[in-house]
Formats: sequence, C-alpha cells, structure tokens
Amino acid sequence: MKNSIFKLITGSILATGIALMASCSGGETTNTSGTAPESMMNKPAADNGEGIGKFSGVTLAAFDAALAASGKTVFETKCSACHKITDQKIVGPGLKDVTKRRKPSWILNMITNPEEMTKKDPQAMKLLEEHLTQMTFQNVTDDEAKAILEYMREIDGEGTAAN
Ligand code: HEC
Repeated sequence: MKNSIFKLITGSILATGIALMASCSGGETTNTSGTAPESMMNKPAADNGEGIGKFSGVTLAAFDAALAASGKTVFETKCSACHKITDQKIVGPGLKDVTKRRKPSWILNMITNPEEMTKKDPQAMKLLEEHLTQMTFQNVTDDEAKAILEYMREIDGEGTAAN
C-alpha cells in the first residue's frame, strides 16, 4: 500500500517534469510561418547611391590639401590594415577611384556606419558578399571621416601637381 502511493507520487512528478520540458522546447518553435524575424533579414533599402546613415546630399567643396593631409594620418592609423590606396584588395577593397564610383554621402556613411550599410545598402551588401569580412566602425568622428574623404579625393587625382 505505502509502496503504491510512493509510485503514484514519483510518477506524477516525472509526468510534470516531462510536460514542462515539452512546453519549454515548444516555446522556441512557436514561429511556424517559416520566416525569420524581421531583425534577422537583410532587406536591401532603396538604392539612391547615398547609402544609409547620417549623411545625405553631401556636395564637395574645392579640394583642401591640409584636410587631405590630416585624413591621410587617420587613414594610416585606422584603415590601412584592411585597405590599400591602390586598386589592390587586401581584407577590404582597394580604395583607388572610390570617389569616382561612389557618392560623397555614401563614402561618409560607409566610414561612419559600416555595419548597417552592409546589412541594408545594396552596394555595401554586395561588397560584404565579395569580401566575407565585416568592416567595423573604427571610432572615427564625422570630421575625421570628411578628412579621409578628402584624402581619397587626393588619391583619385584631385589637388595640384605639387601633390
Ligand atoms: C577590419 C578591416 C577593415 C578596416 C579596419 C576598415 N575597413 Fe573599410 N572595408 C572593409 C571591408 C571588408 C569592406 C567591404 C565591405 C564589408 O565586407 O564589410 C570595406 C569597405 C570599405 C569602403 C567601400 C569601398 C568600395 O569599394 O566601395 C570604404 C570607402 C571603406 N571601407 C573605407 C574605410 C575607412 C576609411 C576605414 C578607416 C576609418 C576602413 N574602411 C577601415 C574592411 C575594413
């Protein structure tokens, strides 16, 4: 008699445990629609060539050699491990002629907001597919990004013969 009550109790504890486990693992698969959550999908944004971030409609002033020189310093510290200024790819694309293939806002957004760019901007998404390495934000200020852009202009042939 005692024994059978014991069996009953342990039996029901076991059953409760199994039911709990089942409901826990069930909780992870409640999304039966077969689609990934919105946050996991890399949906490209409309492509107007400006990129995604705080910069839009940036127009360039006359070439500024002093600004380019300060951009070169930042570039050599924070970017040159992954980028050459020729057309040769290392970790990231060679940056020669980048100012000819991209709008100024796009370049500034790529420098200051690379993670979002490679998730949503069609051109940057393509680059990530090709390079298979995520460019990360290098803690550059907006002013430093603009200085780097000026340096990119210099590489692409702006400025005087003295350069
Ligand atoms: C850890 C390596 C790494 C560092 C550091 C890095 N980048 Fe990148 N960069 C990449 C990769 C890789 C891509 C291609 C997109 C991707 O895969 O994320 C890229 C793409 C770019 C592009 C677009 C090039 C094109 O052809 O359109 C620009 C511009 C750029 N980076 C500028 C910079 C600047 C400026 C810095 C420094 C502030 C920098 N990057 C630092 C790896 C890096």
